[in-house]
Amino acid sequence: MSELPYSIIAGSGSYLPGDPVSNEDLAKQLAQQGIETSDTWIRERTGICQRHIAAADLNTSDLAALAGERAMADAGLTAKDIDLVIVATSTPDMIFPSTACFVQKKLGIAQGAAFDLQAVCSGFVYALSTADLFIRMGKARNALVIGAEVFSRILDWKDRGTCVLFGDGAGAMVLQSAKEPGILGHVLHARGEYENILRTPGVVAHGQVQGNPFLTMDGQAVFKLAVEVLESSAREVLAQAQLSTDQVDWLIPHQANIRILQFTAKRLGISPDRVVVTVDQHGNTSAASVPLAFDLARKDGRLKAGQTVLMQGVGGGFTWGAVLARLTR
Ligand code: ACO
Repeated sequence: MSELPYSIIAGSGSYLPGDPVSNEDLAKQLAQQGIETSDTWIRERTGICQRHIAAADLNTSDLAALAGERAMADAGLTAKDIDLVIVATSTPDMIFPSTACFVQKKLGIAQGAAFDLQAVCSGFVYALSTADLFIRMGKARNALVIGAEVFSRILDWKDRGTCVLFGDGAGAMVLQSAKEPGILGHVLHARGEYENILRTPGVVAHGQVQGNPFLTMDGQAVFKLAVEVLESSAREVLAQAQLSTDQVDWLIPHQANIRILQFTAKRLGISPDRVVVTVDQHGNTSAASVPLAFDLARKDGRLKAGQTVLMQGVGGGFTWGAVLARLTR
């Protein structure tokens, strides 16, 4: 009987649309609509300095395909090698078909399954765990796992409490079957009772949008829950792999807010120089934030083969999870 394989991260890629929009530029644009904000407020409360916003002719699948193409090239693979596509997104191109099917078409992938995964800002960690299980069960050999969002389209640009927080972008990884483990463990959680603290409740029904189509959030409730579950899920996945926080080379948490990242690192006893931070450059890109941060830190040479990386998602649902990986390349 052949042994079931493990999975490794064989490649990564990312894509950010257009030029960055600074806090100053955003404040000027909002001022034209009578909305008051400032670089100082945004920077001090969130750590965000700028974000990218996709032009009207770019959809989630465009960003996802560009990031996916880069991840495939990084892994030395072509479309014929990919036998699973999972896109984590809360801003799909359409109600259906799935964004993953559009990505499959755009990249010329013609075999295997393709589907979307909806777990908001935990989406990528959910998708990576799912792809790992496919590979470990021998159901896929090369999975393209993408987090991609155009959150700018579900923001109420008159609500200064939320519109300054988010950005658009995409990040991707190729997970590949291997004899030695790359993915060391994962944990996923959800608590639906907190669905009301962060959501976009509007739906299309009977030819009309029914309910509020914009993101709403109880910021302080999200903050409190986020720091709690980021700590508990980190400890849980490390216990599963029998590793300590000292053995984590890099922490890559969901990039919601610099204060959430700092709190989490402090509670875990991980020094700030071992935390990958992109929220200042990208804002909160929801499902794209973890793979974008991973790719950036890998390409700038911080992440290296042999290192242990702890990736964490947390967001609407309420959902959260963690993936622990040892880098092999
Ligand atoms: N510019 C200027 N003033 C603002 C802005 C803004 N963009 N937004 C809100 N304010 C004002 C409010 O009107 C309020 O004014 P008031 O005191 O006169 O009434 C004041 O600032 C304080 O508002 P709060 O909402 O209480 O501000 P808070 O300190 O809670 O910070 C924040 C808000 C940054 C959202 C915080 O709650 C937070 O970090 N929450 C975590 C949630 C988060 O990061 N969500 C991202 C998505 S969720 C996820 O990804 C997990």
